[in-house]
Amino acid sequence: MVLLKGFVKPEDQIGMVSMCRQLGKGLGGFYRPSLKNGAKLNLWMMSLGKNWDPTARSYGPTRPFDGAAAPTIPDAFKMIAQTANSTASEFPQINPDICIVNYYTNSGKLGLHQDKDESESSLTKCLPFITISIGDTAEFLFGDTRDKDQATKINLESGDVLILGGESRLLFHGVSHVKTNTAPSWLKEETGIRPGRINLTFRQYKLGTNPYDGDHRELL
Ligand code: SIN
Ligand code: MN
Repeated sequence: MVLLKGFVKPEDQIGMVSMCRQLGKGLGGFYRPSLKNGAKLNLWMMSLGKNWDPTARSYGPTRPFDGAAAPTIPDAFKMIAQTANSTASEFPQINPDICIVNYYTNSGKLGLHQDKDESESSLTKCLPFITISIGDTAEFLFGDTRDKDQATKINLESGDVLILGGESRLLFHGVSHVKTNTAPSWLKEETGIRPGRINLTFRQYKLGTNPYDGDHRELL
């Protein structure tokens, strides 16, 4: 697991907020997802690239409840995620085909879970996933089990990038709470962002046809 503190430049964070705001109010934008048992998640979500359906725990081109297609992942988002990915050179490079954007209000949270619904090829290669945090600070938990009392706690602040790959790929992780009024003042001034936190998770659901896709070797 690699944590890149303050990796996303202020101007890029500002750009990401305005792009998320624009995408979030359009077709395929933010909604409150439910789990299989009917419980609503304590966050707002939108999927870019492909749709992630938390009820069925599966990926697809459109979302079942309104038929909206997942908007394309902006190139600028991909670029930032891939630059962070290459900084953590111990992990293979991914070409993200899905970006899940979560918006947590100050009462938002997310229980401990594993990310293990990608294709078998993606998981077998332990392709990393990359998360970017913007806005208020979150207390982020991770550990080997679902037990939150045994989990390690770290703060994810605005601009932090966290990459889970290799042996850390299937760690349990979640957000216990969002800390009120902790977003940088310049971000609030420049974007007028409401209290809360945006988290973007990039992953490669499926390997492409390139045999070296997701591989980690020097080709020449
Ligand atoms: C997630 O695991 O889906 C999001 C994690 C976070 O919000 O930091
Ligand atoms: Mn997750």
